[in-house]
Amino acid sequence: MSTQVGKVAAELMAPFTTGIDLERAELVTPCHRVVRRASDMRGHYADAEALEVLIAKGDPVHYEVFEILTPETRGNLSYCISKLYPGVVGEECFMTKGHYHTVAQTAELYLALRGEGIMLMKTAEGKVDTQKMVRGNMVYVPGYWAHRSINTGTEPLVSLCIYPAEAGHNYGDIETQGFPRRIYKRDGQIVMA
Ligand SMILES: [Fe+2]
Repeated sequence: MSTQVGKVAAELMAPFTTGIDLERAELVTPCHRVVRRASDMRGHYADAEALEVLIAKGDPVHYEVFEILTPETRGNLSYCISKLYPGVVGEECFMTKGHYHTVAQTAELYLALRGEGIMLMKTAEGKVDTQKMVRGNMVYVPGYWAHRSINTGTEPLVSLCIYPAEAGHNYGDIETQGFPRRIYKRDGQIVMA
């Protein structure tokens, strides 16, 4: 019994609060910021030439992730605000790299706060799924599903993401396999191909 209490004491964290400006869909609490520019997205878009043109034009920020990180031990939750800017590479809508979780069975919950988009998901066995991301929609990404968000709108697509702190990011498999679907904006219409 004393061993159990000792273990809990060693892992005990202090409770804390995070502030989110729900109107602007921004964290107001200091956090860890990850920035992905167009040049970080090489290899992900169908039109590699169009991406190079975008990079040459100033290499704009593609998306930002504002993370509240906790110790990567079982039982903890980490969370972030993901902000994906609108735009196209050729005709393909801006998207995140996408990833599996390193601990493959871990799920993730996305609450869309602002903008419009699609959560594109796939499994290693070839299953594909899409879910609509629009303010108020909460998308549940079960374990084993690789996930990528895609901005189909004209303003930033912002979502709150919550996931087990131990989940980790496996980008490598997506870099080699890609996703079996792409989302294009053609003559103002959203087209999946
Ligand atoms: Fe994830």
